Amino acid sequence: MSEIRPLIAGNWKMNGGRREGLKQAGQMARQAARRKGAAAEILICPPAILVPVLRDALAAGAIAIGAQDCHAAAAGAHTGEQSAEMLADAGCSHVIVGHSERRADQGESDAAVRAKAEAAHRAGLTAIVCVGETRAERRRGQALDVVARQLSRSVPKGAAAANTVVAYEPVWAIGTGLVPTVDDVAEMHAMMRARLARRFRAEGRGMRLLYGGSVNAGNAAALLGVAHVNGALVGGASLTAKAFMPIVKAAG
Ligand code: 13P
Repeated sequence: MSEIRPLIAGNWKMNGGRREGLKQAGQMARQAARRKGAAAEILICPPAILVPVLRDALAAGAIAIGAQDCHAAAAGAHTGEQSAEMLADAGCSHVIVGHSERRADQGESDAAVRAKAEAAHRAGLTAIVCVGETRAERRRGQALDVVARQLSRSVPKGAAAANTVVAYEPVWAIGTGLVPTVDDVAEMHAMMRARLARRFRAEGRGMRLLYGGSVNAGNAAALLGVAHVNGALVGGASLTAKAFMPIVKAAG
């Protein structure tokens, strides 16, 4: 199997205005442009309204831009929503679907997440499909089962290495400063890899599997060194170039 190129993705969530966003994106791009022959691909997912504002600034450093959610339909009477086609048209190459905050806040089911991933594929976007157990589920010893179920129900039939990334984000690790042990991450990612390989064959062996949840400059190297961890999905530490770029560097 050829080496999987790591992806370091920033999820700004509902943070970052126009001014600060441009400042940070510009700094990230300048630093990224200086990285000759760097291994990792870099992606920033700002709030959708900032995509057209930041797109060119990020592109100057070959940093891709993505969105944090999309609607399953291509167009129609869905007030307040954006379709995957619209995101692609605005310059996005990726869209996050099924983030645990949306699963919790908007009650998104695995079926809804799968429909969004299918929409992303229809529009030519790479879907970053998020999965992860809650603290209670891990305490009850159900983490592997819960994530396996989310994985099989949320990742659509047409998934391939080029159009799908899976992000394992334990809910209890998001924004808390808590991270699973490297052994727990290794166990989870090995399970995900085995299931994806069984279902999608070579495509499943080539899909990127990201870890997300309290990734920072201090723990990135250890997490990225775990087998079948092909990058990171970073929240809080992706908001500034100062916090984010050392994580990019840790990925090589
Ligand atoms: P934090 O890095 O802030 O824990 O957020 C992780 C996350 O949810 C990224 O999608």
